[in-house]
Amino acid sequence: MLRKLILLNLIFINTLQLFADEGMWLPLLLEQKNQAEMQSLGLRLSAEDIYSVNNSSLKDAIVHFGGGCTGEVVSDQGLILTNHHCGYGQIQARSTIENDYLTNGFWASSLQEELPNPGLTVSFLIEMKDVTAAVFQGINNNMSLSEKNRKKNANIAAIKKEATSGNHYEATVRPYYYGNEYYLLVYETFTDIRLVGAPPSNIGKFGGDTDNWMWPRHTGDFSVFRIYAGSDNKPAPYSKENVPFKPRKHLTISLRGVQPDDFTFVYGFPGRTEEYLPSLGVDLAVNTINPIRIALRGIRLGIISKYSETNDTIRLQYAAKHAGIANGWKKWIGESNGIKQLRGVEKKKEYETRFAAWAGTDEADPTPYSELLASFESAYKPYAYWKSTETWLSESVMSVEALKLARAFTPLAEICANRDSSEAAIKTLSENYIKSIDGFFKNYNSRIDREIFVAMLRMYMEAGSQKTNYPEILNTQLKKFNGSYQAMADHFFETSLFADKNRISSMLQSFTRKSIKKIEKDPFYILGIELEKYQREKVAPAIRAFNRTFDSLMPIYMKAQMEMEPSKRFYPDANSTLRVSYGKVAGYTPFDGVNYNYYTTLDGIIEKENPEVYDYVVEPRLKELYLAKDFGPYADASGEMRTCFIATNHTSGGNSGSPVMNSNGELIGINFDRCWEGTMSDLMYSPDRCRNISLDIRYCLFIIDKLAGARHLIDEMTIVH
Ligand code: ARG
Ligand code: ASP
Repeated sequence: MLRKLILLNLIFINTLQLFADEGMWLPLLLEQKNQAEMQSLGLRLSAEDIYSVNNSSLKDAIVHFGGGCTGEVVSDQGLILTNHHCGYGQIQARSTIENDYLTNGFWASSLQEELPNPGLTVSFLIEMKDVTAAVFQGINNNMSLSEKNRKKNANIAAIKKEATSGNHYEATVRPYYYGNEYYLLVYETFTDIRLVGAPPSNIGKFGGDTDNWMWPRHTGDFSVFRIYAGSDNKPAPYSKENVPFKPRKHLTISLRGVQPDDFTFVYGFPGRTEEYLPSLGVDLAVNTINPIRIALRGIRLGIISKYSETNDTIRLQYAAKHAGIANGWKKWIGESNGIKQLRGVEKKKEYETRFAAWAGTDEADPTPYSELLASFESAYKPYAYWKSTETWLSESVMSVEALKLARAFTPLAEICANRDSSEAAIKTLSENYIKSIDGFFKNYNSRIDREIFVAMLRMYMEAGSQKTNYPEILNTQLKKFNGSYQAMADHFFETSLFADKNRISSMLQSFTRKSIKKIEKDPFYILGIELEKYQREKVAPAIRAFNRTFDSLMPIYMKAQMEMEPSKRFYPDANSTLRVSYGKVAGYTPFDGVNYNYYTTLDGIIEKENPEVYDYVVEPRLKELYLAKDFGPYADASGEMRTCFIATNHTSGGNSGSPVMNSNGELIGINFDRCWEGTMSDLMYSPDRCRNISLDIRYCLFIIDKLAGARHLIDEMTIVH
């Protein structure tokens, strides 16, 4: 019995160690760093199948979508899948009152019906290469910092030039490990990307901001696009003559679904993580900056919701704004809680104690690293004050929409002030403003904005200004209204051009050089100018000074951390370049007494249904299919229609839309979010609490096939059972 227990224990410990979970790995180093582990966890492919420069590999089916998301190619005709929230802007832009694709969904029934999206790009990574030696070539320690930088920039320019000569590619050279290493990344970018399909919002955004960042989740977060190319299959600007792109690789889709502990990997473009910060950086983020943002955004969201709940026009006008404000707000709450639960700051401090001992502190004989922590400390002290100042300002008064609009008029003021500019040039510019004014007021309600202004002024003056530096202009202005926030806001909103469409439009209609006088007298314009000046003259220099110090210390600290633990496998912080994360399908325990299952089903959508609450309105056609149990080949072996699942893959913002693949490299899901209790993974990963949320690919195909009736798209795909 005992023997058995020991054995079990050993196996248990082993599997724990085997499942590294944490890490966003460089595709070109998989063979060296990860292949053995990935295969021991279940992967049946080689690193070369995932990333290869010479042969086609999975990498050739992955795209950076619109610069901020990921997508994957799923047919030999350039069909790509990404998230609904990644295609949101395009779907919204193509929607009109008559054809409201955002609300009702959109499905092109033929190539001719697919909709172009000016400005949208997708990029394939052609190759990445370690160019560290070439970047540092000719640089030595006798050079000044600026000489070093000049030489480095010249080297980088030469590397990029060589990589793009004689081809149609684009190249960047990016620092990894805070500049201890540099990699060249060569991309092929397509610019004719068409919308093929999107589910209605009550599927693609089911659960809305209420469920965002949370598990259990039932969002059908996907949309479908297609890459078009010239007749030579190369990138070409939009043209009717363009044809579907023939990719080097497209993903095979598996309908087999997932079981607990199944190996999975995610291939995509995570944006930014900061896993190697000193404790002071983590402490500042989660205990000072996040709380400021959370408090101020909470108030703004409350005001917007109050109006949206009772007024459909306002709800539509503010849907995207609410989503944007709420996404950050909710993530930061999760992040701060997560770090607290992990004792993250304390853990970093304990680590720093060990680091200090390792680095040595002998004053007579300082090592290159012995001063590091002290240097961070003296840099963070003033920075904490100025970063708080900046956050208070930008998240409070500067978030007022009329003020933002006023600030956008600086270029017009400048052109008018310049004696050399012609009346014609002024006229042209003012006409451009007329167009953008329409866009602004289409989604604007001055009652909401006024209430936010009052609330932000109050918070800023009564709380923010106590702890931070703040611009004198607010005091002087408030005095004019005997310190009444409401009276000040009323005056601004009743007289300003920027809170009233008629006022600003009629001024712009008859705009001449002299009209600028009216703008210059505007209360929001004046406030905007003053706040910007304060920001530029007082806040920005302090932040810049910190950044300079941080940028000079962090490369050394990173290098030192790697030297201190030579046997630890390090991965570089995310930097919007292609990475592979891997882990296993697993539920988790968010808090004591509760276990979360690893998947959700259509039953849960019906369970959440509430026709009174916008986020939980269930699409009638979906309900019909549910009641008829008409799931086609997409049901699980258990008969359930599974919607989403979670796994331990380490992901971040930018991984949205990433393919989630099984041990054969087949597509089983589309990544779209993380669980709330694990959003601190950008600062510190925990295998117990960090989970990525994926749409089960079978639910996606079910919607395309059964709900949209777009069978022709399914026929394009390669599907295995
Ligand atoms: N939380 C996910 C991500 O960070 C999804 C965001 C979609 N937006 C929303 N407000 N629901 O991108
Ligand atoms: N929702 C995120 C995205 O849009 C993904 C995440 O932060 O986990 O990239």
